[in-house]
Amino acid sequence: MSDYDVIVIGGGPGGYNAAIRAGQLGLKVACVEGRETLGGTCLNVGCMPSKALLHASELYEAASGGEFARLGIQVTPSLDLAQMMKQKDESVTALTKGVEFLFRKNKVEWIKGWGRLDGPGKVVVSAADGSSSSHTAKDVIIATGSEPTPLPGVTIDNKRILDSTGALSLPEVPKHLVVIGAGVIGLELGSVWRRLGAEVTVLEYLDRICPGMDDETAKTFQRALTKQGMKFRLGSKVTQAKATAKQVSLQVEPAAGGAAEAIEADYVLVAIGRRPYTQGLGLETVGLQVDKRGMLANEHLRSGVPGVWVIGDVTAGPMLAHKAEEEAVAVAELIAGKAGEVNYDVIPGVIYTSPEVATVGKTEEQLKAEGRAYKVGKFPFTANSRAKINHETEGFVKVLADERSDEILGVHMVGPNVGDMIAEFCVAMEFAAASEDVARTCHPHPTRSEALRQAAMAVEGWAMQA
Ligand code: FAD
Ligand code: NAI
Repeated sequence: MSDYDVIVIGGGPGGYNAAIRAGQLGLKVACVEGRETLGGTCLNVGCMPSKALLHASELYEAASGGEFARLGIQVTPSLDLAQMMKQKDESVTALTKGVEFLFRKNKVEWIKGWGRLDGPGKVVVSAADGSSSSHTAKDVIIATGSEPTPLPGVTIDNKRILDSTGALSLPEVPKHLVVIGAGVIGLELGSVWRRLGAEVTVLEYLDRICPGMDDETAKTFQRALTKQGMKFRLGSKVTQAKATAKQVSLQVEPAAGGAAEAIEADYVLVAIGRRPYTQGLGLETVGLQVDKRGMLANEHLRSGVPGVWVIGDVTAGPMLAHKAEEEAVAVAELIAGKAGEVNYDVIPGVIYTSPEVATVGKTEEQLKAEGRAYKVGKFPFTANSRAKINHETEGFVKVLADERSDEILGVHMVGPNVGDMIAEFCVAMEFAAASEDVARTCHPHPTRSEALRQAAMAVEGWAMQA
């Protein structure tokens, strides 16, 4: 007899959702988490604190940067950074406590401490007080997440040279923040600090921002950020960073080769990606191995070792909280004998800057590479009445549909609130909808969502408002 039906290692969006769903399905389940709070990277040092600062800094910029005055609201704001951080921390605490509540509600036991596999079906947990305990389970789910990828020559001290966690809790607004990596973290957190008054320079190794994103979308996004004052140096390689008490000196070279130059900053954020986290997990005790990127492979969430499953950032696919959550639901259902399934073709990606960026499905570049004939429908936010009234006309909606069947294959948007609105297309794509299905669906007026419908109409050339 095992102690549990399921033990989940890791209490992030992958782990806690798997545990909750397993509890709902009547399985006896425990979740091992070594942090003092549940919620993983996402709730503690990722999605949620970053969105708290993005929201607050967006309002601060609106109040101080002229938008309030344009609306006829006269204020002279001053920044209380300590309060901004405090409200962020309070929200995070409320959310992590919320997961504890959900555990109690669904009879999930939280085993506090760091877990490691100790042979098939066995997990040993080392608690903070030095004690250790041993537990058995029929199934074990590995959901240990990821950590920032280090950059050789640039040592993170989280004083001057920061990873994302450090950049979420700075005690002051940088004068000059250098961001290494023009990906999601760099552009979100770069936006936060620029809005609060920092000069922000983004150094990117490639000759474009946001690799993998639809080209046209990435270019429009970069133009918007540049207009806001963010500086980009693409094709740049950082070879060294030296921090003193108040300054960082960076050595930067063209990625293609050439003369090095020095760049000075008071803070540097390293955001060049994340890597799977499996440290001390005892993988060898069950015969599991990571690949050269440190990743655990999976086949329909199965690790290859009977009774051991892998989900979330530690395994293949986009490192996103909602991808981890999808896998969490599927793995719990598979373990309970149901038909758990993840549709990897419909996992949206959102960048929560202003304007926001939201994408789902294939990019134009991917469709071209596949040789798939497709139609494009595009609609700009300048022609959307609600966006115009709100002075948020930057960006567009682009719908890509199959040339013959009209099935929606991809949607790429830059603009106001597109992160929420992309869900409409996710539902449509789950139902294998045609662009005409969206084009002929009544959308409320006046909303920004009408731009989605107009873009769908544009696929067949009958957008009526542009
Ligand atoms: P994690 O959330 O990393 O959780 C893993 C947990 O396992 C951790 O709490 C860790 O302490 C624990 N753990 C590890 N090893 C052990 C062990 N041996 N024993 C016990 N516990 C262990 N994604 C989005 O979708 N939207 C966003 O807006 C977004 N914003 C982000 C912003 C930032 C700054 C960062 C860094 C990430 C962001 N992400 C976002 C990514 C998102 O946080 C991750 O994709 C998500 O957290 C992955 O979930 P997970 O459960 O796989 O892993
Ligand atoms: P990323 O993969 O999004 O971007 C990393 C960037 O750094 C890329 O543009 C890459 O070309 C560049 N780069 C790599 N090595 C470099 C080097 N040596 N010098 C200069 N540039 C270099 O990774 P990021 O931003 O660190 O985020 C990690 C993960 O967290 C992402 O995969 C993302 O899925 C997730 N995340 C999601 C968010 C969201 O959904 N809104 C927000 C923040 C993070």
